[in-house]
Amino acid sequence: ARSYNITLLPGDGIGPEVVAVAKDVLSLAVALEGVELRFQEKLMGGSALDATGVPLPDETLAAARDSDAVLLGAIGGYKWDNNEKHLKPETGLLQLRAGLRVFANLRPAAVLPQLVDASTLKKEVAEGVDIMVVRELTGGIYFGKPRGFGTNDNGDETGFNTEVYSASEIDRIARVAFEVARKRRGKLCSVDKANVLEASMLWRRRVTALASEFPDIELSHMYVDNAAMQLVRNPKQFDTIVTNNIFGDILSDEASMITGSIGMLPSASVGESGPGLFEPIHGSAPDIAGQDKANPLATILSAAMLLRYGLGEENAAKRIESAVTETLNQGFRTGDIYSPGTTLVGCKRMGEEVLKTVESQKAMA
Ligand code: NAD
Ligand code: IPM
Ligand code: MN
Repeated sequence: ARSYNITLLPGDGIGPEVVAVAKDVLSLAVALEGVELRFQEKLMGGSALDATGVPLPDETLAAARDSDAVLLGAIGGYKWDNNEKHLKPETGLLQLRAGLRVFANLRPAAVLPQLVDASTLKKEVAEGVDIMVVRELTGGIYFGKPRGFGTNDNGDETGFNTEVYSASEIDRIARVAFEVARKRRGKLCSVDKANVLEASMLWRRRVTALASEFPDIELSHMYVDNAAMQLVRNPKQFDTIVTNNIFGDILSDEASMITGSIGMLPSASVGESGPGLFEPIHGSAPDIAGQDKANPLATILSAAMLLRYGLGEENAAKRIESAVTETLNQGFRTGDIYSPGTTLVGCKRMGEEVLKTVESQKAMA
């Protein structure tokens, strides 16, 4: 039987709640395909800070590197918000992404027919939206140097960061995006701020040059401010979007709301080689942590992406995705996607319902 090592990084806040649920779903789905997963759980983020003094212990990174795929919940919380930068949970997450060299972050935002009512947009605007945001994940202003705190000539305190991209960093993420668009509807929109930023000017030049290798893809360019507006004006115009680290962070949160909730959106981060990192796009949601209110579907769907993109286990991935659809068809909703006439459930119960549905597929098969 095929067998894989999975590192689980539950993290903070709702992270442990949603990862526990996703682990059970993942285990059952692969078991039905005769695949074996061996899990090891490691500390990450605030919980790692409290236990070891650093947000990404060497042991955690080593375990992640040695595994076949990594599933992360979320990190961060009020308790650590005022920590110095190197002692922030978020810094640990950036170190993990850099350490695994997962430069390509795929964030699909598709409006499921069952959740059209959960979207804050009008039905006719939200219906049928199916976007893939390809976010560059290990470069740009998140990592650029110089960065830090200082003092300007007036003696005024400053904080500064650098948006920097090399041609090769742009080329490799653009290639991923062109390939992704090719498997979708053949449309790629590159989002930048090339009217102002040098890093974006280079970005646009390199993406344009690469287009000749992908003559079947319809490439367009858009400034990020317009893209933010177009996403809520007419999101159906988008198929695949490729953009830098920070614009992708912001636009994917915006895109999530078209689908009804940030609690629905999974992601896959992959590099040239080595294990991929799979995580919901949401954070640790400290406002609802520990209350069994979190929507676990983003993490469950991230587990499906782990199977597809991380392990090549397409059948098990499909089992999970169709179980999620079926559970929504049955009317189960966490608070974030609730609408009148549906059944309000907590995080655990939602997980149990998805598990039951995966089970019933087994009976069907
Ligand atoms: P957030 O995504 O944690 O929460 C934003 C809002 O969405 C909150 O009202 C929250 O309750 C809700 N929400 C998020 N996920 C949900 C889910 N699964 N089900 C139901 N509701 C959900 O963003 P934030 O409040 O800006 O950040 C909180 C902390 O999380 C911060 O420390 C931040 O740095 C961190 N963060 C971590 C990640 C990550 O681990 N990848 C991502 C984003 C934010
Ligand atoms: C995300 C988060 C992270 C990011 C933070 C927590 C570092 O917002 O995964 O979207 O900005 O990438
Ligand atoms: Mn984000």
